[in-house]
Amino acid sequence: MSDRIYIFDTTLRDGEQSPGFSMNIEEKIRMAKQLEKLGVDIIEAGFPISSDGDFESVKAISGEITKSRVCGLCRVNFADIDRAWEAVRDAKQPAIHTFIATSDLHLEKKLKKTREEVYDMAVAGVKRAKSYCDWVEFSAEDASRSDLGYLKSVVEAVIDAGAVVVNLPDTVGYAEPFEFYSFIKEVIESVPNSSKAIFSVHCHNDLGLGVANSIAAIKAGARQMECTVNGIGERAGNASLEEIVMILKTKRAILGDYETGINTREIYNSSRLLTAITGLGVQVNKAIVGRNAFAHEAGIHQHGVLADKRTYEIMDAESIGLPENKLVLGKHSGKHALKSKLQEMGYELSDDELAMAFVKFKEIADKKKIVYDEDLEVIASMGASSFVAKYELEHLSLSTCTNGYPTATVKLVTENSELLKSGIGIGAIDAVFKTIDSLVSEEYELKDYTVKSITGGTDSFAGVTVKLGCSDGTVYTGNASDLDIVTASARAYLKAINKLAYFHTRSRRNNLLED
Ligand code: KIV
Ligand code: ZN
Repeated sequence: MSDRIYIFDTTLRDGEQSPGFSMNIEEKIRMAKQLEKLGVDIIEAGFPISSDGDFESVKAISGEITKSRVCGLCRVNFADIDRAWEAVRDAKQPAIHTFIATSDLHLEKKLKKTREEVYDMAVAGVKRAKSYCDWVEFSAEDASRSDLGYLKSVVEAVIDAGAVVVNLPDTVGYAEPFEFYSFIKEVIESVPNSSKAIFSVHCHNDLGLGVANSIAAIKAGARQMECTVNGIGERAGNASLEEIVMILKTKRAILGDYETGINTREIYNSSRLLTAITGLGVQVNKAIVGRNAFAHEAGIHQHGVLADKRTYEIMDAESIGLPENKLVLGKHSGKHALKSKLQEMGYELSDDELAMAFVKFKEIADKKKIVYDEDLEVIASMGASSFVAKYELEHLSLSTCTNGYPTATVKLVTENSELLKSGIGIGAIDAVFKTIDSLVSEEYELKDYTVKSITGGTDSFAGVTVKLGCSDGTVYTGNASDLDIVTASARAYLKAINKLAYFHTRSRRNNLLED
């Protein structure tokens, strides 16, 4: 059996469908390009039938990506499969990923189908997908809680029908490594035609075991890992790509000579880009990409690391692309230097975007002595155009006082009107947000508001993240940065409102997995 492990990235599908992580089409393309640079074998770009927006993004990504395979998710019914094919057909290497649940619980309660019906649907779905494209993956949703005998019969049948990859997901993150190892091994060893397919796993992290289960599955013979950058995904997320890849690299002597196509030096950039796009970062102590993952605070540790890094470090920070020297550009740097630094950080800006970013860069470089990577990330996201915003902030002024009410005046511009109002609040930000609320027509509730100092110091950018919840349970995140905290807050708030307005005008996926 080959020791090549295929990395199937589902950041833009399973990751993107989880609350707070929705991205617009341009953001998805930007992330897909970074995933290609990272070297993932397959990019699951979305679930085309779930919404027009998803369809368009999968289609756009299919047109942009050449090195990685691009895949669209679909259930096994023909309408889903046809739509997925429409979305990926122009990809250089297209793939269809079709799925249906196989556990009795899902069959009885969700699908209301018999085992025989699901078996037939799975086979028919794979054959339909195969009539379009060679690379067909079949997933038995909730595989780890399915009856083993029945699951094996479905697996055998879909391989006969032409599936080249069979994925056995731990959909609800219920497995633990020892049982998952035996489960995968048993299926691979006892399904007669298993050598004709690549076995894949897709482990959710509900018990914090997503990565451990994935590694156990490799030892049992699985050769494709479904995972996401920063471990994002439904509920507690999916197995984290960076953890799986770095475990394989670091533990080679114990686990064996497994190879992936990942350029590990792009791990840090990929993680940062996802954070910059979604406004949702990882916890500081997250393995591999957390801010503290390579930091040494305790004196005894610092002493050891200075003497020899290996005393307290099992991996090189550089191996994940963590920049050693955070000081990058200064006020004398030109546009070319800015462009190549941004490219190195994963940002491909158009000429117009670069021109805007350069103006902003000069402004910042004039005000600050040092321009850090984090500053550049902010500048790049400002320069990158996003979806057409319904509301643009044209004016914001604020008067604050002690023992009184801060008053904000806000002017917003929409396609055909100007909206202007003043309002008070119990604090400065409250006044700004309440005034904006009184100007816009959308309905939402503020779920979260966080501010962080991007580089530290009073001349730092303020990075603001706002989350707005809607009555249908969806959450929209807006993030913005500015040297002025009030402006950053207003921008982040409006970004979330604009996202919400944008997604609500499109038919967003509605509990698709439930019918
Ligand atoms: O968790 C799951 O089972 C899935 C499938 C669609 C692969 O996301
Ligand atoms: Zn999943």
